[in-house]
Amino acid sequence: MKSDSHDCALVAAQRSVREILEAGASNRVLTKRHLAESVVLFEIDNPLVARSAKAGQFVVVRPNSHSERIPLTISDLDRDRGTITIIFQIVGRTTMELSTIEEGECVPDVCGPLGKPTEIANCGTALCVGGGVGIAFLRPITKALKEAGNEVLTILGAREKKLLILEDEMRELSDEVFITTDDGSYGRHGLVTDVIKDLLEGREGEVPPRPVSGSVGASASRGRKIDIIFAIGPMPMMRAVAELTRPYGVRTLVSLDPIMIDGTGMCGGCRVTVDGKTRFTCVDGPDFDGHLVDWNELKLRKAYYVDEEQRAREFIEKETKRWQE
Ligand code: FAD
Ligand code: FES
Ligand code: MG
Repeated sequence: MKSDSHDCALVAAQRSVREILEAGASNRVLTKRHLAESVVLFEIDNPLVARSAKAGQFVVVRPNSHSERIPLTISDLDRDRGTITIIFQIVGRTTMELSTIEEGECVPDVCGPLGKPTEIANCGTALCVGGGVGIAFLRPITKALKEAGNEVLTILGAREKKLLILEDEMRELSDEVFITTDDGSYGRHGLVTDVIKDLLEGREGEVPPRPVSGSVGASASRGRKIDIIFAIGPMPMMRAVAELTRPYGVRTLVSLDPIMIDGTGMCGGCRVTVDGKTRFTCVDGPDFDGHLVDWNELKLRKAYYVDEEQRAREFIEKETKRWQE
């Protein structure tokens, strides 16, 4: 016997199919650009996602009907043109397959927007810290923080100059930008945490101290008054930022990237522990307080399938070579 909830679900499904058809979401790749070695940008036609997405949300995509589903952040959107931008690093089989889609072709599946939007408020001074391809995730958050009236300081880190992405875009959205490279090929030689420490300590050189009038708020910093930090990048970087800022008491939000499958809270794949409680990153996050994350558990869970990932990568590399011959 059919239940009322079954009928409701059916009506909702029919409505979303109708909306998709009406919105004409073709998922066509309108622009494809290589931003750096192994980093690809797609601007995709999808008015439905573009209409409702907010900073911090992501889509789940499949590059072909046989492939796995992978989450990718909505790095930018244009509501008027009905497009979303994703930026991805080619790290394994699925991102390799995605990178073979050319301008004018369509991505078969783009599902979203998913995840909780980042909470944006006028906090005063926000420090946005991006590492590697994490800068792509950081861009919409930086934009929203600026639009909300915050002073925005930004630190961008990369292994080397040629891997640094979106520098011009981030300069436009920020009041000040600091750049670090691990090898010293551009900006300051070192890590993003070196700049954060100098900002919090008011140490000189590249980071001038600013007089703080009245209360220093929640922060125990002796340097700049920083009210909130958003750190997005490789897990070790986010963890290091959270550990660094903990003694200063500056609220530090991180965007977690555990393995996701459905992206809708059903499979449990993206389970993390935050403040001793189980959370599903795809519906409760991806933003969490970095001081409360169980980083050891996350590291273990992210590494669960490394052997399978390695085999899948070798398979697709072999296949690609075969097609090229
Ligand atoms: P694989 O060889 O399969 O995996 C390489 C590594 O990627 C793994 O060790 C694992 O750490 C991670 N990974 C693998 N499968 C998944 C999965 N299903 N979900 C999450 N991580 C996985 N990357 C970008 O380059 N740009 C983005 O904007 C971006 N946004 C993300 C947003 C969220 C919310 C999350 C959770 C992840 C995001 N990622 C992003 C990471 C991206 O999903 C993985 O790099 C991708 O899934 C790797 O797939 P693969 O088959 O090419 O590589
Ligand atoms: Fe399945 Fe989050 S990805 S519960
Ligand atoms: Mg994979």
